[in-house]
Amino acid sequence: MNGTIQKNHDYKKYIIDSKLQYFKPHASKIEKTFAEEISSSLNRDSKFIAPKFFYDKRGSVLFEKICTLPEYYPTRTEIDILKNLQAELSLFIDESFRLVELGSGASVKTRLLLDVFAQIQKTTEYFPIDISEILTESSEQLLRDYANLRITGIIDTYEGGLEFLKNYDERKNLILFLGSSFGNFSPSAGKNFLGKINSTMKSGDLFLIGLDLVKDSHILESAYNDAQGVTAEFNLNVLSRINDELDADFNLSNFSHHSIYNSGDQRIEMYLKSMVKQSVIISKSNLLLNLEKNELIHTEHSHKYTVEQIRTLLESTGFKINHMWLDDKNYFSLTLVSKN
Ligand code: AVJ
Repeated sequence: MNGTIQKNHDYKKYIIDSKLQYFKPHASKIEKTFAEEISSSLNRDSKFIAPKFFYDKRGSVLFEKICTLPEYYPTRTEIDILKNLQAELSLFIDESFRLVELGSGASVKTRLLLDVFAQIQKTTEYFPIDISEILTESSEQLLRDYANLRITGIIDTYEGGLEFLKNYDERKNLILFLGSSFGNFSPSAGKNFLGKINSTMKSGDLFLIGLDLVKDSHILESAYNDAQGVTAEFNLNVLSRINDELDADFNLSNFSHHSIYNSGDQRIEMYLKSMVKQSVIISKSNLLLNLEKNELIHTEHSHKYTVEQIRTLLESTGFKINHMWLDDKNYFSLTLVSKN
């Protein structure tokens, strides 16, 4: 344990009580990164806003709402699979494991794993890693429901969280990456990221990844164009966030939600469409943004995979597959791997 705090000097440490602590980068650093990244991603011909910026407080709440929509099958399907794998998973873990989660969000699905840990361990240590402040609320709620839990939350990007975890201590980790959040990565960035996870892991560590599967394009498109318009609200909310945090003047009624399935690239592509020719000032990014009528700002890619592609992807990035679980309809997958 010696030296672990020093190593994380980029973070501010918040000790809430004996069961709960957080690490968070300094507020000035977070704002500076946001302003700079928005400046460079909008100041180009093909404009984009990275999907990690969806998750301010309101965005996280909207995402939780998406997860309960009738059209949005991934969450419900993954929960079904998790319920079915609990018994088998318990054979892979013992007293020595800690639970780590990338993109923990509201930690709803995590509970199904905490239940497994609680049967095996006297106390369970959980390290949620999430860019959203929602982590603090979900952690407090978990501690109310799980008596023997200790939480160290890392409010940061995946990369920041993995850096934190690397060489942290000798304890074994089961790293979770659920919900097909991995699908946001392009194939090459995704391979890179899996390599990063692999090099963060010690031998004996486990990694459980949830990935969405290729399916009928109508099912996919309605999952990202729900009838109630929650996905549209979620997409547009990133503009209100930029208004609030970077002193910008986006008029949300001049933009519309646009999402389509690109079957060649096996991904849902989400955009914000500028419905008129317009200019927007983003003060803290030092940017005057000019948009043509019908110009698209790309906000998200959500890749879908075949079972075969998942095997190849994981095997080519240094993993050994222990088990893969699917649901009855083959909509979604969970794969447990260890370091090869
Ligand atoms: C959190 C990235 C898994 O891609 O399905 C849901 C985000 N965007 N609806 C996904 C999302 C629009 C979600 N991930």
